[in-house]
Amino acid sequence: MADGYSISKEQREANKKRITELLLSTKRPGMERLVEWITTKTDFFSAPASTKYHLCCEGGLAQHSLHVYQRLSEKVAQGLIKIEPDTVIITSLLHDLCKVNFYVKEIKNVKEGTKINQYGKEVANWVEKEVWGIKDSFPVGHGEKSCCYIQNFIRLKSEEYAMIRLHMGPDKNTYPDPFSETAKIFPSVVAIFTSDIESAYILEERQ
Ligand SMILES: [Fe+2]
Ligand SMILES: [Fe+2]
Repeated sequence: MADGYSISKEQREANKKRITELLLSTKRPGMERLVEWITTKTDFFSAPASTKYHLCCEGGLAQHSLHVYQRLSEKVAQGLIKIEPDTVIITSLLHDLCKVNFYVKEIKNVKEGTKINQYGKEVANWVEKEVWGIKDSFPVGHGEKSCCYIQNFIRLKSEEYAMIRLHMGPDKNTYPDPFSETAKIFPSVVAIFTSDIESAYILEERQ
């Protein structure tokens, strides 16, 4: 992909090993089957994190998930918030599971500067480029889909469900706002939301 940066094969392998080990360390019933599904039936370890925003390169989704794990772990280590270690692992690493089997490579005509045509006139220069597109075969929502995929294999605690469902922050134009209402019960939804945007907008490469 012509995105100007990439994640090396070694780094992608290391990310896969780390994520797999962390998930299995939770000993949550069903986790082995969930890890097997992710590894053999999805593109979790090769998918990008977005089409053209943060980490839109091969392996971006796994890298982003680890960034959110690091950010959330730091908030707990700093004493900002108390979250069970297994909950930190499960919510941070799986919050964007909805993005598996979701991104596809497409060829698109994109404008790249200008060129001089046969009549000596400056015109747009169109070139064919490979870009990431989206093919959503189960469009039930973002956090909602992650929760659904995860719960096919393991049981989520209420707090974990809330964190994953609401990790994108407040929904627009709704009252009462489920994010704020839930944050009063589980402040960890705020911690995963900020970990997610800090990763996507501060830590991670963007186009
Ligand atoms: Fe997300
Ligand atoms: Fe995310």
